[in-house]
Amino acid sequence: MPYPTFPSDCSSALCRHLSPELYARLKDLKTRYGYTLDQLIRSGMENPDSSIGVYAGDEESYRLFAPLLDPIIREYHGFDPEKERHRSDMDPAHLDAPDPDPEGKYVLSTRIRVGRNLHCFPLGANLARRERLIVECLVSDALKSLGGDLAGTYYPLEGMDDATKARLIEDHFLFKEGDRFLESAGLNRDWPEGRGIYHNHDKSFLVWVNEEDQLRIISMEPGADIGRVFERLSRAVSALERKLSFAYDERLGYLSSCPTNLGTAMRASVHIRLPKLGEDMETFREICDRYELQIRGIHGEHSESEGGIYDVSNRRRLGITEVEAAGEMARGVRELIEKEKRL
Ligand code: ADP
Ligand code: ARG
Repeated sequence: MPYPTFPSDCSSALCRHLSPELYARLKDLKTRYGYTLDQLIRSGMENPDSSIGVYAGDEESYRLFAPLLDPIIREYHGFDPEKERHRSDMDPAHLDAPDPDPEGKYVLSTRIRVGRNLHCFPLGANLARRERLIVECLVSDALKSLGGDLAGTYYPLEGMDDATKARLIEDHFLFKEGDRFLESAGLNRDWPEGRGIYHNHDKSFLVWVNEEDQLRIISMEPGADIGRVFERLSRAVSALERKLSFAYDERLGYLSSCPTNLGTAMRASVHIRLPKLGEDMETFREICDRYELQIRGIHGEHSESEGGIYDVSNRRRLGITEVEAAGEMARGVRELIEKEKRL
């Protein structure tokens, strides 16, 4: 392919960081698992409204295509992959994140998820059909070993009736279908085969299998008890680590398909009712920027807010530990609530 061109109004990280010279330098490279530059950038090429626009195909993508990926990583996380090393800390004893809404007036629910992928397998965009099935088998077997409050059932997407699926999506438990960014990246191939969801009885602990990442490990519950949600997640991740080997890089932390999800691969969010700040987006954004928080709509990424309710979460995931990111989210949310009260 000759150097691809972008529409003039394109502002994705891909179009800002890819130059004809860089394209020429990287275009004939291929990872050992056979992933190429054209595959890496396909989603951003087909979706010029992407914010990022790239998906890695394996661990090696992050080394081979570093001249393109490192600047994107640096810009998104404020972390220098050439000089810094990621540190992980999921010890709940180190968490300083008091409930930002003890009266329960603003925060509807809290959710913390981490992405994980299996070491020794390509990432989802480059996973062959049988490999995806093997990943599903390994993960669902590991999930069977969980006990206590984490014990639950794995439900393959294939064969799940439409009403159950729609209800799980509406209630914020299950991933949506047909994401065009994932579609272009090849992450939806053979859908719904190999995909599924595990959850415990009260749906406070869930695992998505073979969506954007091979595992999305999720802890969630009504209210704003960030400490309890974090503790459950940390315990679940430790239990799964005893059964599965996750892809981890000394520099970049936990490896994921999208560079925004490297490092902790963690997104700690609240669903929060802020009708007054919603009318003053400038102030809302200013507070969020100060605490490195991201605002999403009520049905997750690429969705809109409804009824003054927003999804507010940590934006940075790399170069910050899990406990730091959750603590910063809690402090930012407390300030948002204080501001909302004053307005
Ligand atoms: P991810 O969290 O994996 O980045 P999304 O932004 O698409 O992906 O969110 C996935 C789902 O989780 C969506 O249905 C979203 O509404 C739901 N969700 C996110 N945060 C919360 C929360 N604090 N409480 C309840 N549901 C949430
Ligand atoms: N590829 C999409 C874009 O560039 C999503 C990027 C971040 N989100 C994610 N789920 N990986 O807009």
